[in-house]
Amino acid sequence: MKLTKEEQEMLEGKHGNAVKSSMDILVSLGEIFDARRLIDVSSVQIAGVSYHNLGEAGLSYLGDLALDGKVRVLTTLNPAGMDMENWKALGIPEDFAEKQIKVIEAFKKMGVVTTCTCTPYFIGNTPHFGEHVAWSESSAVCYANSVLGLKTNREGGPSALASALTGKTPEFGTHLEENRQAKVIVNVNAKMDTITDFGALGYVIGKNIGKKVALIRGVKKASIEQLKSFCASIATYGGTALFHMEGITPNKTRVPKESVAVSQKEIDAAKRELNDGGVDPDIYAIGCPHLSLKEVEEIAKMLEGKKVKKEMWVCVARPIKKIADQMGYTKIIEKSGAKMACDTCMVVAPIKGRFKCLATDSAKGCFYARGKNKFNIVFKEIPELVKEATR
Ligand code: F3S
Repeated sequence: MKLTKEEQEMLEGKHGNAVKSSMDILVSLGEIFDARRLIDVSSVQIAGVSYHNLGEAGLSYLGDLALDGKVRVLTTLNPAGMDMENWKALGIPEDFAEKQIKVIEAFKKMGVVTTCTCTPYFIGNTPHFGEHVAWSESSAVCYANSVLGLKTNREGGPSALASALTGKTPEFGTHLEENRQAKVIVNVNAKMDTITDFGALGYVIGKNIGKKVALIRGVKKASIEQLKSFCASIATYGGTALFHMEGITPNKTRVPKESVAVSQKEIDAAKRELNDGGVDPDIYAIGCPHLSLKEVEEIAKMLEGKKVKKEMWVCVARPIKKIADQMGYTKIIEKSGAKMACDTCMVVAPIKGRFKCLATDSAKGCFYARGKNKFNIVFKEIPELVKEATR
């Protein structure tokens, strides 16, 4: 790989140890994937923030980098293992909390903005169309490439942090125009009205075509919340980092020859498959990926004057909660007995064993809650979940 004089000096350690070890990671990655050069990134989003995933080795790695490392571009974090302010109310054990706080402190020392969210595009980490970035949360990567028109590979936590500390990433994969062209047309012949419709669509397409870039036709309109749900689902079930949705997403693409179709029958079957059925939920979690302000407002309206009878988490980024506080939505939600969960979610929080059955509107949440936390799943629209939890 061809490096500039400055990049060579970074690699030789002339800009400090954190930059040197970051360059080691980026250059090795570039060589593995045949990148010709490093390119500048304007924004970073780092996953793998939960102490649950990092463990002692991860914490000590972050501590070493924080000795002299400082981020060079705007960098935000994916959800952590707990709400950094309200962790006691969510039942997080004290010893876990101590470690998680140390993780966040190490990031903060490096200049990372310690808002922990999988929807960084709702809280100001929003570069403009066409910019190269290094994001790692899979749903956010898919949203960034497809909906915002940014260019990012699906980074791992260490490579994203390396990009933050150097402002660089190797140029391969989704950074290159030839890899951003659609390879298959997906004709959707189904009603696409709700969040779970879009979650189910991501499930069907992801399972059918995997990582192939799709040109999706037949979806007449989609809100940002529906696209958020779709991105999370197609990235989970297909490993997809980029798609095109005709008339909705902004990137240009060549029109491929191969085509497949998705029918209403397949969408209905997907919804059945995502539900385990016959089980009584003991936790309701909404906000996977983290909710938009509009969704929080709608949930507050649904919960106004009601009492939830089960554990209910409403997962949001902290800056969105701050606006919700200001607008009175938080008060209404908390008065109902539901809990606002910032910085975390029902998948990354260490709640395995505490609950048996999760009810959610998130197709992605179904996959991880089943696989990671061994929960049974109920998959329904938010109004139905609220109705059930307050019955
Ligand atoms: Fe976000 Fe957690 Fe879902 S990180 S996408 S809310 S699994």
